Amino acid sequence: MTDQIKFSPELQTKIDVLKSRQTPIKLGGISFDSKCLLAPMSSICTAPYRLLMEELGAGGTVSELISCHGINYKNEKTFKMLEIHPRERNVGIQLFGENAEAMAQAAEVAADKNPKFIDINMGCPVRKVVSKGGGSALMKDPLKLSHFFSTIKKAIDIPLTIKIRTGWDSDSINAPEIINIAKNEGIEFVAIHGRTRTQAYKGQADWDLLEKIGQDKFLPIIGNGDLHTPEKVRARLEDTKCDALMLGRGPLRNPFIFLEGFMTEEDDFNFSAQDYLEIIERFKSYLEDYTDRERTIHITLRKNIVWMAQGYPNVAHFRNAIFTAKDIDETMDVTREYFSQIQGGKRIDHSKDFMAGGHG
Ligand SMILES: Cc1cc2nc3c(=O)[nH]c(=O)nc-3n(C[C@H](O)[C@H](O)[C@H](O)COP(=O)(O)O)c2cc1C
Repeated sequence: MTDQIKFSPELQTKIDVLKSRQTPIKLGGISFDSKCLLAPMSSICTAPYRLLMEELGAGGTVSELISCHGINYKNEKTFKMLEIHPRERNVGIQLFGENAEAMAQAAEVAADKNPKFIDINMGCPVRKVVSKGGGSALMKDPLKLSHFFSTIKKAIDIPLTIKIRTGWDSDSINAPEIINIAKNEGIEFVAIHGRTRTQAYKGQADWDLLEKIGQDKFLPIIGNGDLHTPEKVRARLEDTKCDALMLGRGPLRNPFIFLEGFMTEEDDFNFSAQDYLEIIERFKSYLEDYTDRERTIHITLRKNIVWMAQGYPNVAHFRNAIFTAKDIDETMDVTREYFSQIQGGKRIDHSKDFMAGGHG
């Protein structure tokens, strides 16, 4: 492991103050730096983003979902997804697939990359995945799960975890049954997105159910869904019965949410537009370390910058400018110009849907 690279003294001080309020936790045998973890997100949670989020207070992270068949066919793109940065400390690799033996074979390869744990995607609602029996379709047939879990577990000597939904649809809420099977097969923890597969991203995450499951405590439970603001994170941290929380879309627009979840009313500082610019610059350098593909860097940077800018003044104008920028340099010029003239804070409109689609 290499040493952490410091941010500017102003930003680093704020990070250090808030990180000092986080307490490390253990979920089963897996230790994390704090109770708030970054949720897996496809095409987002690659090594550069995960590393940045760990530095900004995520207690742990999970990769995007990675196809077991892609690994077993030695697909080059799939192998790239398995990469872990040497400074990532608390990362799990998430696999998806429907066949126990194929998953076991892929898990062995993934475990060689030195993640802390292997996670099974049992929440993906996307038709292409569920039609083959993977993702949330695994929840439809609990009888098959003992064999599925035990076969994968036998192939690896690091912990195995699962991420599920509450059930397939409102008539088949079976998360507790699945957690019971998982417990018997030695699964380390269960992360639950509080919606059914049928709901996809509609409606609200069912936190009443998540809290009830958290209280029953068959296994360490991570509650997930709709914690998109520091206020919501703070409120949930105060009295949740779940062992940990997982945040997905919140950090995309507010990369400081893992830290702000630990702020109090007495704190007399905030994260400024200058701080945003600093982490964007760092993210760019992590992307450049990760890949030589200019197009990938450009597209990834652009989408993350646009998310991060949401809620700042004149963002529509900035978005247009960034989408017409022809390369990385121009994108960064426009970004530097925009963020350096911002005064004051941002105001995100949380009443509108944001990224209402994804693989879990
Ligand atoms: C763009 C996007 C991609 C996602 N990809 C994955 C994935 O690869 N694996 C997974 O288990 N969940 C995935 N999810 C689901 C999230 O991990 C999380 O369960 C969901 O977004 C609800 O949490 P949130 O309200 O904090 O975003 C994805 C969600 C989004 C929005």
